[in-house]
Amino acid sequence: MERRWSWVAVLLLLLGAAYGVDGFIGIHWGRFATQSLVPSMVVDLLLQNGIKEIKLSSPSPNVLEALQSSSLGVTVALQNDFIRRPKWTSNVKNISGWVNELLLEPVQRGVPIKTLIILEEPLSLSRTQVWNMTDVFEETVSNLQIYNLSHIRTTTIHSTDVLKNVSKPSEADFRDDIKDRMLQSLKLFKKANSFFMFNLLPIFSVKVNKWPIEFAFMDNNSSFTIVDGKYTYTNAFEFLFDCLVVSLQKAGYPDMEIVIGEIGWPTDGEKHATPENAERFYRGFLKHISEKKGTPRRPNRNIDVFLSSLTDENKVPLQLGPSQRHRGIYNFEGTPKFKIDFTGKGRDIFPVTAKGSVKMPSRWCVFNGDTANMTKVNEQLQLACTFSDCTSLSPSSSCSNLNLTSNVSYAFNMFYQTSNQDQKNGGCYFAGLGALTTLNPSVGTCEFPVEILTAEKVDGGIQIPFYIGYDRSGGHALRSSQTPQVLFIALSFLYLIKQLGYFV
Ligand SMILES: *[C@@H]1O[C@H](CO)[C@@H](O)[C@H](O)[C@H]1NC(C)=O
Ligand SMILES: *[C@@H]1O[C@H](CO)[C@@H](O)[C@H](O)[C@H]1NC(C)=O
Ligand SMILES: *[C@@H]1O[C@H](CO)[C@@H](O)[C@H](O)[C@H]1NC(C)=O
Ligand SMILES: *[C@@H]1O[C@H](CO)[C@@H](O)[C@H](O)[C@H]1NC(C)=O
Ligand SMILES: *[C@@H]1O[C@H](CO)[C@@H](O)[C@H](O)[C@H]1NC(C)=O
Ligand SMILES: *[C@@H]1O[C@H](CO)[C@@H](O)[C@H](O)[C@H]1NC(C)=O
Ligand SMILES: *[C@@H]1O[C@H](CO)[C@@H](O)[C@H](O)[C@H]1NC(C)=O
Ligand SMILES: *[C@@H]1O[C@H](CO)[C@@H](O)[C@H](O)[C@H]1NC(C)=O
Ligand SMILES: *[C@@H]1O[C@H](CO)[C@@H](O)[C@H](O)[C@H]1NC(C)=O
Repeated sequence: MERRWSWVAVLLLLLGAAYGVDGFIGIHWGRFATQSLVPSMVVDLLLQNGIKEIKLSSPSPNVLEALQSSSLGVTVALQNDFIRRPKWTSNVKNISGWVNELLLEPVQRGVPIKTLIILEEPLSLSRTQVWNMTDVFEETVSNLQIYNLSHIRTTTIHSTDVLKNVSKPSEADFRDDIKDRMLQSLKLFKKANSFFMFNLLPIFSVKVNKWPIEFAFMDNNSSFTIVDGKYTYTNAFEFLFDCLVVSLQKAGYPDMEIVIGEIGWPTDGEKHATPENAERFYRGFLKHISEKKGTPRRPNRNIDVFLSSLTDENKVPLQLGPSQRHRGIYNFEGTPKFKIDFTGKGRDIFPVTAKGSVKMPSRWCVFNGDTANMTKVNEQLQLACTFSDCTSLSPSSSCSNLNLTSNVSYAFNMFYQTSNQDQKNGGCYFAGLGALTTLNPSVGTCEFPVEILTAEKVDGGIQIPFYIGYDRSGGHALRSSQTPQVLFIALSFLYLIKQLGYFV
């Protein structure tokens, strides 16, 4: 009798695992930034905030080391360009090489890696397919088996643009041009007992679909709703989630588990991207998730989610616009930008602040105001923005209303801070147009930041500030006419990259 009950218990447990009864609210920590918090500080920050899962953009050794023996569940991604890196791709099949080096070794040292994401958004509209995903996926899964790592679940991350634009979830389906490849992937996910990981960006989706902004929030305040048969949609999240549910159904996988790989709200860089709106979005969203509401087509269910992101990333590519670099719940130095209760209980609280981050001296680089040669001024402005992040100057952003002098000053300062207030190599030279100041030049809502000391300076970890030779930002190649300071920076980074491998 007892025995029979224990089997029932086991069965329930298994079912529970399959349907994510122990749902979680995790956080995505992307590190495409010139300055980054120290990994051990981040681990501490998450633990203090009660966050139990972390997702990383790459298996950077120094970050994994900090997660060693921690109680956090770890999800690591292998990005498209990672797999494209020469070390691995001289032989695409050298998957055994990186499974060994980047997964087995950390796992043996006690890094709790649970999930491996192979390729991020490979079927997005903005990507060209380089690898046959099937090959990479199968090879990886079989290598995980060889190394006794089958407990690591393997999946691929997809964004909303793998779906057609539709006016109702019942019409949803995967895009025609990727249908075959998606079906192949789904077959692999199923075979590997894996799940579908989905990235959602409500502020972006309401724009694409021309829905009112209220529909992006989850507090049921939108007078615009979408009725689809017996289902009513009051927000973009449930709409898009159910579009995926229906698409999976049509593909023959009605029960495939869906995990949200990234969801969040930016605080700058476009209209509606403000800390107030971010606070409002997260409040509604986290409440919805923690109350296990599910969606109209999958009601009363747990949904595992990763919030995006922990901090801003000033080197992230801008395919979806300037706000992409302002998705942090925390700013660079680890203070929260707005109130958020990670437990979803809706308490009116700020989360715990990162402890121990060290700011650089209160020193700014500004424009000296010499407008005699505007060609030169514009050239230097461009230069500064090319190698730093000027997205806060873009329309509807926190610094979009500056006058010319402040505009140039902002750019100069961003460059100066990005290069760690580099003095001896002329970090504030700008062909004679730069001037150092200890008076904070911030104007109104537009903050001129002072950066933190970078991770590698504090803990000796690996952090590559710039991608040179591989252009993620769709931006700018080095031109020979640019000033020596840029060449110096380029050379130092090339040297660093050579020294440290290719990790971010
Ligand atoms: C495969 O990767 C391993 C681990 O980095 C490396 O030692 C080995 O040389 C690589 N093999 C080939 C054929 O590239
Ligand atoms: C990828 O490779 C698999 C097996 O090697 C093959 O069946 C499939 O058709 C290929 N897919 C594409 C899109 O080339
Ligand atoms: C995997 O486990 C088996 C059985 O425990 C063992 O013989 C084998 O050496 C392990 N392989 C690796 C790569 O650790
Ligand atoms: C959906 O609509 C947006 C905006 O019109 C467009 O950019 C995007 O390509 C469309 N997506 C698909 C899958 O057709
Ligand atoms: C949302 O608001 C509408 C009308 O304002 C109401 O009928 C509905 O019950 C609300 N839904 C929830 C889940 O609170
Ligand atoms: C609810 O929506 C109305 C417009 O429909 C808006 O004016 C109001 O600010 C919204 N409420 C909240 C809490 O944001
Ligand atoms: C203005 O600056 C540009 C670029 O630095 C330079 O080529 C040009 O000669 C300058 N013009 C004058 C009048 O100094
Ligand atoms: C530009 O704005 C700054 C900050 O508000 C102000 O100090 C400065 O006088 C302005 N310059 C001009 C030329 O208007
Ligand atoms: C400030 O810089 C931004 C971005 O470079 C530009 O679009 C804008 O026109 C500039 N504003 C002024 C007043 O020069």
